[in-house]
Amino acid sequence: MLHTTPGPNFRPDDPGEGHSAPDVGPCALVLFGVTGDLARKKLIPAVYDLASQGLLPPTFSLVGYGRRGWDHEVFVKEVKESVQDYARTPFVESVWQELARGIRFVSGDFSDPSGFRRLRDVLRELDENHGTAGSYLFYLSVAPKAFGVICEQLSQQGLARSGRAAWPKVIIEKPFGHDLASARELNRTIETFFDAASVFRVDHYLGKEAVQNVLTLRFANRLFDALWNAEHIDHVQITMAEDIGVDGRGGYYEGVGAGRDVMQNHLLQLLALTAMERPPSFTAENIAEEKARVLSAVRIPADLSQHSARGRYGEGRLGGQKITGFLAEAGIPADSTTETYAAVRLAVDTQRWKGVPFYLRTGKRLERRVTEIAVVFKASQHVSPSELNSENALVIRIQPEQGATAHLSSKVPGRGMEIRDVTMDFNYSTAFSEESLEAYERLILDALLNDHLLFPPHREIELSWQVMDPIERYWAAAPGAPEHYQPGSWGPASGDALMTRDGRSWRRP
Ligand code: BG6
Repeated sequence: MLHTTPGPNFRPDDPGEGHSAPDVGPCALVLFGVTGDLARKKLIPAVYDLASQGLLPPTFSLVGYGRRGWDHEVFVKEVKESVQDYARTPFVESVWQELARGIRFVSGDFSDPSGFRRLRDVLRELDENHGTAGSYLFYLSVAPKAFGVICEQLSQQGLARSGRAAWPKVIIEKPFGHDLASARELNRTIETFFDAASVFRVDHYLGKEAVQNVLTLRFANRLFDALWNAEHIDHVQITMAEDIGVDGRGGYYEGVGAGRDVMQNHLLQLLALTAMERPPSFTAENIAEEKARVLSAVRIPADLSQHSARGRYGEGRLGGQKITGFLAEAGIPADSTTETYAAVRLAVDTQRWKGVPFYLRTGKRLERRVTEIAVVFKASQHVSPSELNSENALVIRIQPEQGATAHLSSKVPGRGMEIRDVTMDFNYSTAFSEESLEAYERLILDALLNDHLLFPPHREIELSWQVMDPIERYWAAAPGAPEHYQPGSWGPASGDALMTRDGRSWRRP
């Protein structure tokens, strides 16, 4: 594993890691926002999946905190349903029974001190009867406006920094702020109550196995490492396309849009991993330092009207289904100007990337779900452009299939000298028998183990807002609504024009 390798050498795998279960001590995971989509579909199932792989101790406890007036039985039933509907691993009654012994629910409002007093009492009871030993991990899967008040309430009950809890930590879901100023303010608030080292900010893309592999592919393979610069690379395309819409999350998405929802975090993190320099060692601190360095070298184009695009899906059909247009989604006002598609050309102002554009695009209700980083190489100097109808590219596939494809030129069999594009493929499903942990399994496990590698430090979040803020300001000031696009397409015409203006085109994954 990258993060456990001190010293100057890169060791892609530490035999001690990933091969034996890491030792998570006794602890309670307290989940705020238990009724939300993320908790139901990802977080609770991830806890079960960790338990079923033997990665949680028998003393582990899951405590839900929420406004619903549920009693214990109702909460246990809800948790069980979410496990049965969404867990990755099969439902095993004995695993469930052991997990269920440590499940508790506390009903209360986020600003209600009596609810937090009940939470404190429940945690004490668990310490005594379930062996959780005062170690608590608070997972805030709630609207950003509730982050501060929850941290303050926890602190008042002695459950944060200065309290009796032996091991208080807090996980904050994205989006971390709405812009640079609010992210700074939020950070100040959280760090008033929790030690900086016990705050884990989630960008779940970093928990994805194929994202963790970007640095390994780059630095453990001379084949790529040697060519990873402006001399050989023409441009980089980072795509995060989704076929889903806002799916009932209109209340959250309105006013956030594709830029703040995923470009500020997931896409800029992928850019940072693709463009960063090799750290002196692969520790969390050194990697974070290099990522911060590259993020501070990101430059936005002077003319955003030519080099950025935003769009909004209308109604239509996708995969044989009738699709409701964005404006007709629940929680979206008729005069909304929120975008569901965003694209931009960025530059990285370092020696390595001089003159190499980084194109980022993301959208909902696009033709298919795919996330990939395509590193497109310059054309060969030895074959004339008329003979070459293909380009060298390394495509790192993040999802749905994880792997990488190298696009190469090859002679077509026969007496002639025709050249055609061929591919060399690497697929996780055929290359490895080991299973990947799902992103949230990995992140919850790492936070329990106090491993910060896959959590962006506050500095990275600030730097990402520094890139995003002027783009958002430009979009907000632009007249009219984002450009219309059809569900099932690859976005608005202006998204394509951004590429053709540069004599390039988006890949059709
Ligand atoms: C989340 C966004 O961070 O990522 C969602 O808020 C988006 O809008 C989701 O749908 C996509 O995650 P994944 O892992 O399915 O690519």
